[in-house]
Amino acid sequence: MSDKACTIWFTGLSGSGKTTIAHEVEKALRKANKKVEILDGDVVRANLSKGLGFSKEDRDTNIRRIGFVAHLLTRNGVFCICAAISPYKEVRNENRKRIGNFIEVYTRCPIPVLKDRDPKGLYEKALKGEIKGFTGVDDPYEAPENPEIICDTDKESLEQSVEKVIAGIKKAGYL
Ligand code: ADX
Repeated sequence: MSDKACTIWFTGLSGSGKTTIAHEVEKALRKANKKVEILDGDVVRANLSKGLGFSKEDRDTNIRRIGFVAHLLTRNGVFCICAAISPYKEVRNENRKRIGNFIEVYTRCPIPVLKDRDPKGLYEKALKGEIKGFTGVDDPYEAPENPEIICDTDKESLEQSVEKVIAGIKKAGYL
């Protein structure tokens, strides 16, 4: 086990399980006496990225900001868990390069399942056209090609997904 920290970057559609898994991974890392911070899209957008919308430009700005903070934390030994849709491959990979110690987790879930879950009622609104440019409905999502970890959240239990992520962090030598 090294003293090095890493960024665990969750990407996936709204409602695919990023935040839920992220919080369980946070608990597990704290149990292992690690310093941890979570940067969640919804929380960042209410603070650091307040005022940004959902155009490609604004999303890229949001993701760059999250990546910048993750870079600062990670290089100081804090495990940084990022959970934002981060729909564009290029800026995700830009963050990967900048941060270096980077584990990408793709929370994969088919749209029909997400429409059924719809905890915030946003898919229903998007399908009715009440929200325009909603990721996965009428806005793009570029799935990662080679993520370190894929959580199929329509098939796995929360515990299984968390275990996969922890195993991935161990395999990469950070735990
Ligand atoms: S990102 O695209 O910039 O990575 P982020 O994860 O911060 O997105 O925020 C996504 C959250 O914003 C969603 O979970 C949802 O609650 C809300 N949201 C509001 N409008 C949209 C939209 N048009 N597309 C996606 N999410 C939206």
